[in-house]
Amino acid sequence: MNFADELLGWYHDNKRDLPWRNTTDAYTIWLSEIILQQTRVEQGKPYFYRFLERFPTVSSFAAATEDEVLKLWQGLGYYSRGRNMLKTAQQVQNEYNGIFPTDYHVLLKLKGIGEYTAAAISSFSANQPHAVVDGNVYRVLARYFGIDEPINSGKAKKTFQDLANSLINKKNPALHNQAMMEFGAMLCKPKNPGCGICPVHLNCYAFKHNATTTLPVKLKTVKSRERFFNYFLVTDSHRILMNKRGDNDIWANMYDLPMLETSELLPVNELLNSQEARQAFGENATIEHIYPTAKHILTHQKLFVRLIKLQNSTVKLEQKWFYTEVENLSELALPKIIFIFLKNIFNL
Ligand code: ADE
Repeated sequence: MNFADELLGWYHDNKRDLPWRNTTDAYTIWLSEIILQQTRVEQGKPYFYRFLERFPTVSSFAAATEDEVLKLWQGLGYYSRGRNMLKTAQQVQNEYNGIFPTDYHVLLKLKGIGEYTAAAISSFSANQPHAVVDGNVYRVLARYFGIDEPINSGKAKKTFQDLANSLINKKNPALHNQAMMEFGAMLCKPKNPGCGICPVHLNCYAFKHNATTTLPVKLKTVKSRERFFNYFLVTDSHRILMNKRGDNDIWANMYDLPMLETSELLPVNELLNSQEARQAFGENATIEHIYPTAKHILTHQKLFVRLIKLQNSTVKLEQKWFYTEVENLSELALPKIIFIFLKNIFNL
């Protein structure tokens, strides 16, 4: 028996009974897949039930408010994924008459649906022969076939996708895909894989070469931290309110503007209504202009820098804040991105 057939046999005998496996409804499968991209099966189940109960159809989902979706999503983290779900549902409602697509290429046109999700939905709902490649599948293939290409390298995606597609059981892509993922999740686990009870261990490269701990190979990457810098531009006729930075962060001791840092991009109104902003700029301050957010890449940080021009502010001067004449801006050590903002605004 070949590798894929062996896995089907194993799956038949060992699969878990999971709620999203008893349906071919594309909408239900989509719900489960998005939730499972964010959390593990056991933690995901209650979310899956709650979403399905509250929104039994994609049309009912599309009619939800963002607040309602975020409330149901609460606890899963990465809230933009929750927000995107609403956009996907609305897209299905508006562009596809509320009928969730089952075709791989159509699915790819939907917001928030990439190759993995399109392969999962099209195979589970319509038996289309597209192989899913998730972390489990990378691991199973890397070990069995002895592929040492780092799974997070640019080239790996195609190598593994092509290999996975070549293995797919054309008669039953849905079962094949479930089996590959289940095998990776339950037996060919990252740590302590069950080689002793594995049906394919005799032909497995990693088993034969004692390499289950070294395969798959993953390049170490230093995570880039995302930071959101919200700067406030306050002018007093010809003077501008500045800040001197401290010495324990980027741009140590340089000059910028009063700033609030947030952990995600917040609506400007929310920002201005925060206690800190109200304390600093007064109750009457309003937004005069919002400049487009600029992205600034540092070695281990990705900054999203935004400038908000205020009017009617009554500034409570903080220790590090001071006014300076616009003509003097060039004398100050400003981070480049701040300088560019100010240069464009004041024609420096
Ligand atoms: N992880 C992602 N999709 C899954 C599925 N359909 N079943 C089990 N685990 C999964």
